[in-house]
Amino acid sequence: MIDTAKLVLRKLIEHHSNTKGQMILELFDGNPNRFDEYSCEHDGMLFDYSKNNISEQTLSLLLELASSAAVFEKRDALFAGMHINTTEDRAVQHMALRNNSADKVEVDGQDIMGNILEVREAMSIFSRAVRNGSIKGKGGRFTDVVNIGIGGSDLGPAMAVAALAPYHALEDDVPNVHFVSNIDGADISDVLAKVPASTTLFIIASKTFTTQETMTNAATARSWFVRECGENAVQDHFVALSTALDRTAEFGIDESRTFGFWDWVGGRYSIWSAIGLSLMLAIGPEHFEEFLNGAHAADNHFQKASPRENIPLLMALIGVYHRNVCGYETHAVLPYDQHLSRFPAYLQQLDMESNGKRIGLDGEEVDNDTGPIVWGEPGTNGQHAFYQLIHQGTSIIPSDFLVAAQANDVIGDHHEKLVANAFAQTEALMLGKTKAQVVSELKLKGMDEDEINRLAPHKVFPGNRPTSTFLYPKLTPFVLGQLIALYEHKVFVQGAIWNINSFDQWGVELGKELASELLPLVMGEESENVRNGSTDGLLKAFHQMRS
Ligand code: F6P
Repeated sequence: MIDTAKLVLRKLIEHHSNTKGQMILELFDGNPNRFDEYSCEHDGMLFDYSKNNISEQTLSLLLELASSAAVFEKRDALFAGMHINTTEDRAVQHMALRNNSADKVEVDGQDIMGNILEVREAMSIFSRAVRNGSIKGKGGRFTDVVNIGIGGSDLGPAMAVAALAPYHALEDDVPNVHFVSNIDGADISDVLAKVPASTTLFIIASKTFTTQETMTNAATARSWFVRECGENAVQDHFVALSTALDRTAEFGIDESRTFGFWDWVGGRYSIWSAIGLSLMLAIGPEHFEEFLNGAHAADNHFQKASPRENIPLLMALIGVYHRNVCGYETHAVLPYDQHLSRFPAYLQQLDMESNGKRIGLDGEEVDNDTGPIVWGEPGTNGQHAFYQLIHQGTSIIPSDFLVAAQANDVIGDHHEKLVANAFAQTEALMLGKTKAQVVSELKLKGMDEDEINRLAPHKVFPGNRPTSTFLYPKLTPFVLGQLIALYEHKVFVQGAIWNINSFDQWGVELGKELASELLPLVMGEESENVRNGSTDGLLKAFHQMRS
């Protein structure tokens, strides 16, 4: 954090210690308009943050923190295409991929909109042709698409294809989309066992086209395909999505089947680029456009809404309060929307790869905590698994609840029951249940006093646990675009406050390097070098078990 921000953080810490014991419920008692004042809306998306333990004073200090950390100047630098990814000397311009205005967007003095629209048009033509059967495989119309990628080249499209399932189920002939990411051969073999080679389209998605997992899976898919359909059919069945067009050519994928993007698109921000091809194939170019429009609306909101109405800014500030002032270590994302089942995993990469950093932009070790641990599962499943800890555990876990007003699939009263559960959880987390309430309930049940005294402490809920709720009309492509972009900007604001580079990921490198070093030893090569007691022991045990 820069010094001016540190000063405000100190004020926030003092404010927090002065308001210890403040109950969220009391904030409602003291302000009948709290819901209206502590919620905001953009393009139909409601963000309710009233069930967080923050008052006007907290908010005004948090907004001061944002100004003192130069968040607004940094936001402008982001949108202006400055090289804010300083360790890789790159601009960060994934917002341009969803820019549907006539405005120019420049990176390094060049308008990048022409190239973006050209690739999107090529993707649309290709997707339409695959969907209507005019581009076919060796065995006829494509029945299946297999996206081979990992990290940002997998999580985004996999999450979004699942999220928007109702938008592909609408059309019968749309190919089924599968995802392969793991180097574990089980992943690709499970998928290959399901798909007919002669009507399967393989998408090799990799920004760098060097990632071990993707290249290994791509080679396996290619050999399997050649065995089934012959070498000559490869060009009709393989597509590449990458920034490394020389490497895609080397792999043998024709230029006409290669969809490019650029180094100013980070892997975890690439769903809006050619990496979204599998999603476009699933939902069609028109729905893909709506998805982009939702994100663009969120970009406009982030740039133009006043601080007090700015959803990503507020999400970020509340998160910083929880992390740096209250000391909460994790953040749960709980979609009450089964189709968002992969959303928490997607946000894990977005947030933890972006803000899991301990060195500031000044090259010095930070002296405050940065990104929280992000996790979650859809409700109501989580209620029957880990909510026990959220309600009664020793850690306080700020949680985001995501709920649609209407279901895409209306079946009886399922949706009303789902929503009742979501609202009930945020209420229970805030209200809790006192010992007096528990005792009186047990008395009413006719329990004797000794038994009441024994059981009551276990049935008390401390409450006062913070939650925020997103309520949206329905999980449409537009809404999904909005949601993702809101979280992207939240992550950006937090990185700006912590003064870290949210757009590099050097922390993934060491493991990759050591895996390359270890591979020959795992394959059985002898080595005189001692690595360390544990790894040497594991290698020995591994070879013994296999012999
Ligand atoms: O290892 C991390 C990472 O670089 C992610 O940032 C990225 O999304 C993923 O690997 C996949 O990279 P690529 O698209 O270049 O294969």
